[in-house]
Amino acid sequence: MGQRTIKVTFMPDNRTVSVRPNLTLLDAGRQAGAGIRTRCGGRAGCLMCKVHVEDQSGLTPPATNECLKLGDLIQSGTRLACQARITGDTTVKVPEDPLKAAVRAQLARQKEEENW
Ligand code: FES
Repeated sequence: MGQRTIKVTFMPDNRTVSVRPNLTLLDAGRQAGAGIRTRCGGRAGCLMCKVHVEDQSGLTPPATNECLKLGDLIQSGTRLACQARITGDTTVKVPEDPLKAAVRAQLARQKEEENW
């Protein structure tokens, strides 16, 4: 009998991968090419891997270390991708890279000015 696989979808790019249970969201994100940022290599040190998961029924509950790192953000669905392990089908929202967001905002401002 084959091992059960789980479907994880990364938004906004709608990239889906099938993974084995207990993989971290960070590793699943790497498989999907979802662009989850990291500087500490998955040791809960950099906090750059924050993602948003509305329905967390497909994830392990946050451990004490993750709760301490995220504080109140936990209540609004934020998780550290390197700490959250996958237990069932789940959908993850990956925040836009801050540099890309800044460039997009600048381009939008320029376009607005051109239209005056
Ligand atoms: S990868 Fe650094 S905190 Fe998760």
